[in-house]
Amino acid sequence: MAHKGAEARGEGVARGARREVAAPGTIRTEEQLVRAFTLDSFESPPRLRDDLPEPTAAEGELLIRVHASSVNPVDAAIAGGVLKEMAEHDFPVTLGRDLAGVVERVGRDVSRYQIGDEVYGFLPAVNPTVHEGSWAELITVPEFNFVAPKPRNLDLAEAGAAPLAGITALAARDVLEPTSDKTILVIGATGGVGSFFVQLASAAGAHVVAPALPEDEGYLRDLGTSEILDRDADLDITVDAILDVVSYAPRDELLNEGGRLASPLGAAGDGPLRFNLVAQPTPENLQRLGELLDDRTLRVHLQRNYLLAHAAEALQALSNVHKQGKLGVEIA
Ligand SMILES: NC(=O)c1ccc[n+]([C@@H]2O[C@H](COP(=O)([O-])OP(=O)(O)OC[C@H]3O[C@@H](n4cnc5c(N)ncnc54)[C@H](OP(=O)(O)O)[C@@H]3O)[C@@H](O)[C@H]2O)c1
Repeated sequence: MAHKGAEARGEGVARGARREVAAPGTIRTEEQLVRAFTLDSFESPPRLRDDLPEPTAAEGELLIRVHASSVNPVDAAIAGGVLKEMAEHDFPVTLGRDLAGVVERVGRDVSRYQIGDEVYGFLPAVNPTVHEGSWAELITVPEFNFVAPKPRNLDLAEAGAAPLAGITALAARDVLEPTSDKTILVIGATGGVGSFFVQLASAAGAHVVAPALPEDEGYLRDLGTSEILDRDADLDITVDAILDVVSYAPRDELLNEGGRLASPLGAAGDGPLRFNLVAQPTPENLQRLGELLDDRTLRVHLQRNYLLAHAAEALQALSNVHKQGKLGVEIA
């Protein structure tokens, strides 16, 4: 992806675009600076800033004006320096993975998108360093990765909250294969991944069991949960499959013979029926998710929406608010 100061030759310009590209040799004005929420070092908390240079769409890239995103646990992990030992960080690190927005410019040889198209998707946390994020007014992405056309029936706020959790839930459905003769236990059903997965498993006819808090009863029934258990009580059931998005030691002793276990935490263990999920933002996955969102098999529950200026509060909410669905972030 192109970053700071790359040449903009040959790119289209959106009608009504707010900014002009600076001619070579001219000084950038304040108008051409971008607001973003960034982590600038491991020693300081992330902050809102308004001085990042406008990125330029290189050949095969899109410049996207981001309108909406959401908070995912990986955002809090990056903000807290948890990935420090795992991947190189290229500061400033822009936080945020999910995005929905509008193509503002296209680089040369872009064929799939035009200026004004609405897109959605998510950015990988490591690509190949920890650097790019979606909590910025303008970002660049390659046209054939990380984004796809936004589902038509969703508004930008809903579309910006769905991609990462939705694709993880789809990956869980692919491997757990819910059907009407199966009972599936979902640990963490109320959150982002769990809420999407419960809807998918229930649409496939499975009997979905979810440990939760008393206040979650109505929310989880609406998603299609068949049975709600006390989340603080010991589980005394056997099931055909488990999606556990919470535990680093999932309870595989609850599985019937031949049962399947999936974890997005790398905690599923080894073996043919153990699945460690990794969400991939391919256009194919985004299109599959988009169809399920468009036909309302999947609904996005936006529990709260935060302005970009309150992104720090949104990150804190991950640990101090009981989540039902997604926490949205309004970028512009
Ligand atoms: N590998 C991948 O590609 C990938 C992709 C997506 C997500 N993930 C990971 O998957 C995990 C879940 O993501 P998410 O977006 O769904 O997170 P989330 O939105 O925070 O959801 C987690 C949900 O689980 C609930 N919960 C916590 N402890 C529980 C318990 N003991 N029993 C039942 N429910 C419990 C939480 O309730 P409270 O709000 O009360 O805590 C929350 O509603 C995160 O660790 C994330 O990093 C990995």
